[in-house]
Amino acid sequence: MVHGPFRGVVATYGRNMRRTPFSPAFWRSPLRGPWFTSVLGVVLLGGITVLFVTGLLSYAAYNPDLSAVNDKTPGKGLLGFYLFSWPTDPHWLYRLTQGVHVTLGITLIPVLLAKLWSVVPKLFTLPPARSLAHALERLSLLLLVGGGLFEFVTGVLNVQLDYIFPGSFYPLHFYGAWVFFGAFVAHAVLKMPIAWRNLRQLREERNDLVSLNPDPPTVSRRGALGLVGGGSLLLFGTTVGQDVDGLRWSAVLAPHGADPGSGPGGFQINKTAAYAGITAADRSEEGWRLVVKGRTGTVRLSRAELLQLPLHSSALPIACVEGWSTSDQWWRGVRLRDLAALVGYDGDPPDLFVQSLQRHGAFRRAALRANQVADPRSLLALFVNGESLTPDHGHPARIIVPAAPGVLNTKWVAELTFGDL
Ligand code: HEM
Repeated sequence: MVHGPFRGVVATYGRNMRRTPFSPAFWRSPLRGPWFTSVLGVVLLGGITVLFVTGLLSYAAYNPDLSAVNDKTPGKGLLGFYLFSWPTDPHWLYRLTQGVHVTLGITLIPVLLAKLWSVVPKLFTLPPARSLAHALERLSLLLLVGGGLFEFVTGVLNVQLDYIFPGSFYPLHFYGAWVFFGAFVAHAVLKMPIAWRNLRQLREERNDLVSLNPDPPTVSRRGALGLVGGGSLLLFGTTVGQDVDGLRWSAVLAPHGADPGSGPGGFQINKTAAYAGITAADRSEEGWRLVVKGRTGTVRLSRAELLQLPLHSSALPIACVEGWSTSDQWWRGVRLRDLAALVGYDGDPPDLFVQSLQRHGAFRRAALRANQVADPRSLLALFVNGESLTPDHGHPARIIVPAAPGVLNTKWVAELTFGDL
């Protein structure tokens, strides 16, 4: 007990302290507690693990180790240890993995925010570090909270086409993912045993999450979890439609609008011909020639000459890195492996370097691996759904390959170079 002249000062300091987040008395919500936090933690344990794995698969789907044009994070070093040749089967693979990545990411936002809200008092507990181990744990919490918010914010900005990041999205989101997931694994290993014990407890244990003098409850903990779940359901319901043809109208958060038009070309696109700087002269019968280079030299083909080659059809979706996708569209054109045979690769098609007429925007060039070129469904498409490609879908000709991210299905193709890249 303090006496004399400082009594007033200490009393005032104590009173003021109670008004700051550093005082346990500051936190008045009756909802906080280990059970509430553990439920959210377990949901995030599963959800974030799926996000990390589908994110890593998104990077792998670029075949970044095939060519620098596909690799937006060339400095990755050992973090690329897991890379493999992206397959062509099942043909809807990337549609699934990236659809899950983006839809689940958005759906988990209320859970992430509720979890952060439920533990925020812990960020203000004093002293900041009671021991070296405690200091390390708090540092990992900083990486966890900072990394998590960073990943979700960059992800949402990316799919909303708000490229306001301090640098390129790819390395930021990729490296951020490793920092976040590393801190997340450390946190999960430390906290999971406690979380399981908490979940088995039917009533909240007293700990520094439970308010010392809670306000009267306005909703129960289960009610609050219901609200969080409702928020996730709402975000899920207004996002998943961008991957389901009949539900596209419900994807009200999707930046590309819900109505891609009707007719054979009535399916989603990212970049229009106008945006990419493609002129009518570029695409004209007189002006356009496909240049095909390979082992035996160079061949130039007009669209009319391409139409004389054996044409094949394949039903394949467009699956965008932003998470939206179309159902299978019927493409018709010349097999990439048949074009490879024109320049000396009969039977064993090599890798392929594709150049577009595109003047603006990313991915004017892309590389495809031999397994993608060899797949009989991989086409230089001239038609879709029974009609010539529209300008926005890549007329005069575009690449379409099973299971590949949309960005590697180059539109307005100008040149194909077969051979080791
Ligand atoms: C709302 C949450 C999220 C959204 C909307 C989101 C969105 C995206 C998008 C659009 C891409 C593909 C980018 C491209 O290739 O153009 C991507 C890639 C990726 N995401 Fe996320 N993401 C989210 C959360 C996360 C989280 C929490 C993690 C990690 C735990 C993560 C890890 C990754 C990784 C590793 C990649 C590959 C990056 C690359 O290709 O360079 N994402 N994400």
